[in-house]
Amino acid sequence: MCGIVGYVGTRDVSQVVIGGLRKLEYRGYDSAGIATLDDGKLRVVKSVGRLANLEEKLLHEPVQGHLGIGHTRWATHGKPSDENAHPHQDCSRRFAIVHNGIVENYLALREELISKGHQFKSETDTEVVVHLIEELFNGDFLQTMVQVGKRLRGAYALVAMTKDAPGTIIAMRKASPLIVGLGQGENFVASDIPAILEYTRNVYVLEDGEMAVVKADGVQCYSLDGEPVSKEVYAVTWDAVAAERGGYPHFMLKEIHEQPKAIRDTLLGRVSPDLSRVTLSELKWPEGFVKEIDRIHIVACGTAWHAGLVGKAVIEQLSGIPVEVDIASEYRYRDPIQTPNTLVIVISQSGETADTLAALREAKRRGRRVLAITNVVGSSAAREADDVLVTWAGPEIAVASTKAYTTQLVALYLLALYFAQERGRVSQDELHAILKGIDGLPQVAEQVLDTAPQIERFAKDWAHASDTFFIGRGLDFSVALEGALKLKEISYIHAEAYAAGELKHGTLALITDGVPVIALAMQDALYEKTVSNIKEVTARGAFVLGMTWVGDEELQKSVDQVIYVPHTLPLLAPIAAVIPLQLLAYYAAVARGNDVDKPRNLAKSVTVE
Ligand code: F6R
Repeated sequence: MCGIVGYVGTRDVSQVVIGGLRKLEYRGYDSAGIATLDDGKLRVVKSVGRLANLEEKLLHEPVQGHLGIGHTRWATHGKPSDENAHPHQDCSRRFAIVHNGIVENYLALREELISKGHQFKSETDTEVVVHLIEELFNGDFLQTMVQVGKRLRGAYALVAMTKDAPGTIIAMRKASPLIVGLGQGENFVASDIPAILEYTRNVYVLEDGEMAVVKADGVQCYSLDGEPVSKEVYAVTWDAVAAERGGYPHFMLKEIHEQPKAIRDTLLGRVSPDLSRVTLSELKWPEGFVKEIDRIHIVACGTAWHAGLVGKAVIEQLSGIPVEVDIASEYRYRDPIQTPNTLVIVISQSGETADTLAALREAKRRGRRVLAITNVVGSSAAREADDVLVTWAGPEIAVASTKAYTTQLVALYLLALYFAQERGRVSQDELHAILKGIDGLPQVAEQVLDTAPQIERFAKDWAHASDTFFIGRGLDFSVALEGALKLKEISYIHAEAYAAGELKHGTLALITDGVPVIALAMQDALYEKTVSNIKEVTARGAFVLGMTWVGDEELQKSVDQVIYVPHTLPLLAPIAAVIPLQLLAYYAAVARGNDVDKPRNLAKSVTVE
């Protein structure tokens, strides 16, 4: 989820590229770089850290020219560093590229290219692409890029330049967004519209599997096979602020809608194409370690802790390893019982939460192996843990976590299946069935998002509530906790989540006429028991919004409103079920006029105890 800008025309390229990157810094900010053609020479300047560091460097090493590409990075493969920053160059320094996405087969390509004498300078997946260009270059830049595209697996938005084609930039898109901005005697490339809005409102939106040859006097689009395609010009009507949010009114809504892609990216390269195996090649566990793990402690805060609760259920169910889940601020002080073969898993979107880091350090101090599930490659958690499983959600800007949660769930599902697979606890048929379900989650998420207008209507009824209850059993209870947290933190409506069977042990006293209750009935094995609990609250006058699978005709008889969610396995229901709850919280907060992206009293990353 990096930011990309390219320019060819008559202006000072560094002004255009750096100005564009500034508008994209929200997409990634661990390093930045620029490549230009300066008097026929390819010049590259890059720097770890915020864009300001690059700007500072450019004061001492200015670049000139009228053609160039730039990048602001959100690390995936390889920690944030000068070497890993983009643009990357080949050995002969004739080509430069920037990339957003993941090259799935980069290890195999890297080995192949090393055997042909290429020398690598970075740890990134991206660098293989520029060496591949050098290897395949035949004097025809377009045809070379077509050949390069044929060798790459994964997702990419790639922009390349070479001193051998001094007036040309080539942009290629497979699964990662890319647009071409159309000017007069100048043209632009960018990962997002804000980068170029200052110069033009006319764009080509490259579709998946398209590429563009961009010159100052024109743009020609092609399929990745090199066949010309004609494109319609799209006129952007958003203002600059809305453009930054991809046209959404808030980052939170944008991030809710990014979940299908975030889930897809987190799965990329981790499931075999025939859905028969989980491959977590990033885990460098010692030989035999997976079989020896005798307990797992999951430690996290807030939403990440809620993801951990789902993780406990699925790891225990699939692998048989006992799991405890702790709130990080409790774990560090409770003297937890660990065995030498206890694996500690910390979950943290930011990788900087003080309590979670303290728990990580305490586990390390006691000699435990720690795995971090985090969204930020260069974060403290990623650096200090023994192993890291990255969630490829991209930067999350809204304080309320959404896409980080769903991708944490994906990482935990994969991990649970990996344990089960390596410990021989799952049959090939069962593994295939669950992986098929997981593979279908991006579509399920897309279909759930289609129900947003209906949820917006429901939210108007909920916006006036002062106290609400969320109930569910099993995995539904874990999702209920997350739904209640979302509603509290952005709408400021008091919300409590209860295991549905627990209500009658005290909470039913609070259920009176009109009290809103959200009831999740997604766990088939517990369905009838949940419906009985729903009847307990409707009998006391509660106003109930139920959630069930598409095709269930029964639930509507027991509730006032129903959200229908497309089918997936009950084990995977949390991903499908949480999205309507995120939307409900979002629309309720909007209806109450709240600052959705920056709720009162809260910070995105809690770096104090
Ligand atoms: C809620 C939310 C918080 C975070 C928590 C942990 O929407 O975002 O509850 O989940 O502060 O943050 P990370 O995951 O960065 O450790």
